[in-house]
This record gives sequence, structure tokens and C-alpha cells, in this order.
Amino acid sequence: MANNKRPETMERITTKALADAFIAEQLEAIKKQVGDKKVLLALSGGVDSSVVAALLIKAIGKKLVCVHVNHGLLRKGEPEQVVKVFRDEMDANLVYVDAIDRFLDKLEGVAEPEKKRKIIGAEFIRVFEEEARKQEGIEFLAQGTIYPDILESGPVKAHHNVGGLPDDLKFELVEPLKFLFKDEVRVVGKALGLPDNMVYRQPFPGPGLGVRCLGAITRDRLEAVRESDAILREEFAKNGLEGKVWQYFTIVPDFKSVGVKNDLRSFEWPVIIRAVNTRDAMTATVEDVPFSLLQHITARITSEVKNVNRVLFDLTPKPTGTIEWE
Ligand code: XMP
Repeated sequence: MANNKRPETMERITTKALADAFIAEQLEAIKKQVGDKKVLLALSGGVDSSVVAALLIKAIGKKLVCVHVNHGLLRKGEPEQVVKVFRDEMDANLVYVDAIDRFLDKLEGVAEPEKKRKIIGAEFIRVFEEEARKQEGIEFLAQGTIYPDILESGPVKAHHNVGGLPDDLKFELVEPLKFLFKDEVRVVGKALGLPDNMVYRQPFPGPGLGVRCLGAITRDRLEAVRESDAILREEFAKNGLEGKVWQYFTIVPDFKSVGVKNDLRSFEWPVIIRAVNTRDAMTATVEDVPFSLLQHITARITSEVKNVNRVLFDLTPKPTGTIEWE
């Protein structure tokens, strides 16, 4: 039975020196656990899996096989960054799987949020399983489990409905971060040399933009979510809100409204902006975004994002609204 309690003597990792000591300790532990065997990791590009990848690359190099599944629901630039950081800069053994069509075809016409989540979760496992079967000699599965995953089943983790690999692929787990809190994972990630926008990134749901393209996902509306989200992130970064606001993103509903563009009537989608702060995602307050910034973002989104003629700002705290719209 695995030990799942953080040792009471373990110091909180708050500095680079403490992170370096943790890294040295984990490198030894990983080498001892896996020897010269191969380890598989699903690398989403989120903080936890990225830090696990960086640690294991340092410990065992190409014996770590990272699988990055692009399900088409990632934010703009994310899959490219995973390839750049891990394959180009860290020389990792990275398998990049373009599964965009596969996911979008499966999701076609599915409007019910929980059904969408289930399809995305199940398809993810299927793609990962196929990649696992292509690899020879895998004996371990690395995971970015962190201490809150063990301690709590709060609203974030309650959504983790991905399920697991089949029995014949039940590898022994390697979970180097399992006693760390999120802030400690970030300190370790920084010490490992990962870029700031990977280490300090805001939480991003597993089903990704899929739950922000409301109702049945279409490629053009998904594009509107991705492009408007990129503009929002760029403007928040430029205006000192990155790292200050807990979570911010855009949503595109599945209805259109009448507008006017270039002196012509337009019948297009609105984009909804959500920007919230919270400690634990159980309750949340709305960020007081400067009105002039909202106006600027609105002007950019309506002129740069195709098929969009309005921008709305969600003023609802949680409760009564949840953070996501689906
Ligand atoms: P809600 O919308 O329930 O969100 O207020 C609370 C937090 O959970 C995230 N969230 C998810 N995370 N898979 C995830 O990994 C999901 O299906 C999911 N749905 C919501 C949400 O982004 C927020 O941080």
C-alpha cells in the first residue's frame, strides 16, 4: 500500500535552494525506482505534468516517453509550446499525437455538457492506450498527482472523470509530486528551468475549450473561442493582470444576435468574458477589470475574431454562477 501522507518533517518548498534539494532527492528516488526501465507520461502541458516531465527527463532522459495528445480543445499556442519546450529544448522523447479530427468527429452534434466531458475523457484514454501499446518495454506510468489530489475531492477534482487504462496496462506509478502543494510545484518547475507561462499558468479544465464552446461544438465556434481567449490572455498579460487574476477566459454560446458591421447587418455570435478570483474554486468573486480595458478587448475581439459581433462581461460570482458555463 503506497504511503499517501506527507511526512510531517517535510519543509514547505518556498525557495530555489529548497527546490534544488527536493529535485536532487527526487532524481535519486526516481532512478532507484525505475532503474533502466521505460516510463510513460501523458504530457498535457499543464503545470503538474510539465514539472513531472522535466524531472524525469533529468533523471532518465529518453527512457521517459512523453505522449502529448492534441485533442483540438487546447488554447492557442499550447501544443506548439509543448513541442518547443520538451522536444526542441529539452531533447525529450516526445510523441505528439494529432487527434483533433478524431475528437471533433466524436463530439459532433453532442450538446449535453456531461456527455461532452465523458466523450473527451474516454477518447483521451483510448488515444493514450493506443500510444502505450505502440511502445515496447514500458513498465512505469508517471503521473502529475499532487497533494491536494490525494487530500480533497473538491470541485476541480470532482470533474476528473477520465477513468483509467485497461488492466493489462496497469503500470507501476511514478508520482514524484504527490506530497507537494501547487505553489511548491511551481517553485520546483521554475528551478527546473521551465518557462514562466508554463509554471504560472492559470487552471485549465481537462475538457479544455470544449466546455467553453457551449452546446454542440462546431469548428468555427471553437475557433472563435480560441482566438478570443488568445486576445484576452494577451491583453491581461500586457496590463499586469496575468498571475493576478485566478482564472480568465472566453465563452462562445450557441446562439447568434443581430449586429451591424461595415454598414451591413450581421448575424453572428457573442463572446462572453469571464474573469474570477478564488482560493479553492468552491466560491469565486468577479475581477474588477478596468472598463477601458474591457472596451479595448471588445474592440479587438469584434474586429479580429471571425463571426463575432458582440462581447459581454459576466458579472456573476460563484454562487450563483459556476466558474465555467458548462
Ligand atoms: P466550476 O465551473 O465548477 O469550476 O465552478 C471550478 C473549477 O474547476 C474547473 N473545471 C474543471 N476542471 N475538468 C477539469 O479538470 C472539468 O471538467 C472541469 N470543469 C470545471 C474550472 O475551470 C474551475 O477552475
